[in-house]
Amino acid sequence: MRILVVGGAGYVGSTSVETLVRAGHHVTVYDNLTTGHRAAVIEGPRLVVGQIGDRGHLEHVLREDRIDAVLHCAAKSLVAESMADPGLYYRNNVAGGVALLEAMKGAGVTRLVFSSTAAVYGEPRRVPIAEADRTDPINPYGATKLAFEGAMRWFAASHGFRAISLRYFNVAGATEANGEDHDPETHLIPLVLNVATGEGSHIQIFGQDYPTPDGTCIRDFVHVRDLGNAHLLALEATGEGDPSLEVYNLGSAAGFSVREVVEAARKVTGRSIPARALKRRVGDPPVLVASSRRARRELGWTPRHSSLEQMLTDAWRWRLAHPRGYDDRVAEERERASGSDGHERGVAASVAVS
Ligand code: UFG
Repeated sequence: MRILVVGGAGYVGSTSVETLVRAGHHVTVYDNLTTGHRAAVIEGPRLVVGQIGDRGHLEHVLREDRIDAVLHCAAKSLVAESMADPGLYYRNNVAGGVALLEAMKGAGVTRLVFSSTAAVYGEPRRVPIAEADRTDPINPYGATKLAFEGAMRWFAASHGFRAISLRYFNVAGATEANGEDHDPETHLIPLVLNVATGEGSHIQIFGQDYPTPDGTCIRDFVHVRDLGNAHLLALEATGEGDPSLEVYNLGSAAGFSVREVVEAARKVTGRSIPARALKRRVGDPPVLVASSRRARRELGWTPRHSSLEQMLTDAWRWRLAHPRGYDDRVAEERERASGSDGHERGVAASVAVS
């Protein structure tokens, strides 16, 4: 299959690219490199630098690389940022997403897999959460992901798209090549590892009075490698059947509390990792645990790497190997050495964010 991975230089996108290439698919990466990293794109796939809102450029790339299916991982994804700037989220995640759908329609590409989120559920009424449960997002991040799912549904009904939305819970871990490098970093596991390296003095634990056994929030962590495999299975599944939007939760179905994560990280790293309790962070549901039964049954997905110990071990190994995160200058050198002309990059980089 010839696959365009939009957002393929980000954490989830780049690790999925690795899985797709390893499975023998031909991959093109499309990314604006605002949060993604040039160095996260492994050798092989063509990297096109462009904006998700640039319908014309996307359509050109889809045609030029004779793309069969799209994996869309290009959304803005920070809850707090979405509360501070909802316009950014609606512009990127909804308007940008619709430009992608229209480009696909223009180029005759109707197979799409989308990185969605547990944030579409808001405060769940029950756990584990199933796909048919009420969606009621409590922040613009979740709301914009849900709005885009709505657009996908109508492109399926009106334009024959076969689309799959994968709602992830908390993603963690790393591959040999790729790991988490966000600026600013807000996620629990990379921040805990920052403390382990000495970059941070202590981890702040947000809230100790939740209705959970140790009073801290419980989350369902899934290894980024297992997500990559889910993307592969989902892309393959869009090859047959009637036009539709199918939705699957992806989690490991096991919840760990914030305190349990910190304790496990102490064991894996052998470092002390001081922790301090703070008040609750706004917008955190007490417990988020997925029922992934549907993905297991219908896609044949089995998370194989998602034990907490394995995720922490892999994230720690990547962190030790990349103490300053990605070095994009090395990637630029590599491209220059391989004779890449950067033409697409030059063109795309001059296109304004729509
Ligand atoms: N936490 C701390 N200290 C920190 C950072 C996080 O105690 O320094 C706690 C949070 O309060 C939360 C848990 O660790 O209880 C996990 O927080 P993260 O920021 O790592 O992840 P979230 O659960 O907030 O976010 C995840 C996904 C989002 C998704 C959201 C759904 O990353 O994409 O779940 O609510 F939207």
